[in-house]
Amino acid sequence: MKAVVYERYGPPEVLRLDEVDRPRPGDDQVLIKVHAVSVNASDWETMRGKPMYSRIGGPLRPRFRILGSDVAGRVEAVGKSVTKFAPGDEVFGDNLALMGGFAEYVCAREQAVAAKPAGLSFEQAAAIPQAGVIALQGIRTKGRVRSGERVLVNGAGGGAGMFAVQLAKLAGAHVTGVDNAGKHDFMLSLGADDVIDYARTDFTRTGERYDVVLDLAGHLGVVNYRRVLAPNGRYRYVGGSVPSLLQVLLFGPLLGRRAGKEIRLLVVRQNPQDLLTVAELCQAGTLVPVIDQRYSLDEVPQALQRLGEGRAKGKLVITSTE
Ligand SMILES: NC(=O)c1ccc[n+]([C@@H]2O[C@H](COP(=O)([O-])OP(=O)(O)OC[C@H]3O[C@@H](n4cnc5c(N)ncnc54)[C@H](OP(=O)(O)O)[C@@H]3O)[C@@H](O)[C@H]2O)c1
Repeated sequence: MKAVVYERYGPPEVLRLDEVDRPRPGDDQVLIKVHAVSVNASDWETMRGKPMYSRIGGPLRPRFRILGSDVAGRVEAVGKSVTKFAPGDEVFGDNLALMGGFAEYVCAREQAVAAKPAGLSFEQAAAIPQAGVIALQGIRTKGRVRSGERVLVNGAGGGAGMFAVQLAKLAGAHVTGVDNAGKHDFMLSLGADDVIDYARTDFTRTGERYDVVLDLAGHLGVVNYRRVLAPNGRYRYVGGSVPSLLQVLLFGPLLGRRAGKEIRLLVVRQNPQDLLTVAELCQAGTLVPVIDQRYSLDEVPQALQRLGEGRAKGKLVITSTE
């Protein structure tokens, strides 16, 4: 089968289209014929090996030869202990534990995928898993956003931000989106009430206070995050720089508690129920999974380049030609 492979960390040029053996499903895995796979910041980071946390399991060389986690496709074969799926079923999910989605076929654990709602295309389904579940847990489960609250989404013009802005608006919040100036119209089109250009304005120094800050691009110190929270405010770090991550992990809970605020990491736990919740909202038209561009398998490097340069507004999806 065809797959986009790499053997060393680096820029998109380290990727190449190659012929590789089709994977065989383990006992608890399904083999999926990939119809669509979306590109995530986690693919960009794991390709480059930066930040350092992207090298977990592969400090010197990539742990996975094939990237791509958000897949949608049709089950081709199942392992002997799989009970929920059979060949022919349409499924989608975040295959972060095994990756391998930038290929014609991929193996995923049974519990990593869910049945694709019939009303969603493979492309729409592939746009949902990682970004949608980050947003759902960040805004609803862990952020506990309520009507009338002031919510700031840092990195609101990317994949997870696109869902987070919409979910926060659905909850009845006033939403501020922070991203580069090229994404301001996009954030407003998602429903953001205010937008901030991170290149010109440090959102922690405007004097505004927020009840919830969902940080998809955390680069500041924990004291900044404490300052920008309103009383009882919740800050959730999802991604960004390692120094910022360490500060939030080590000092956030204590500094926050002393000020009557919550400052914590959000470690996203993938589960089929959250996946289906977001998918059903998309199927109903309540959430829109915005697809910025479509690519073919041999164009994965270009898709990653666009994401890495910060030009993607919403999701980039690789589609199969069949
Ligand atoms: N915690 C977890 O369990 C978990 C799980 C999976 C993924 N993640 C992380 O989640 C994060 C978000 O993923 P995603 O798929 O939404 O990424 P994405 O599509 O690349 O979106 C990130 C957005 O943040 C913007 N940005 C970059 N630097 C910024 C800054 N200093 N201030 C404000 N915005 C900035 C980017 O724009 P530019 O073009 O300007 O760069 C981009 O629009 C990633 O860091 C990923 O590693 C976390």
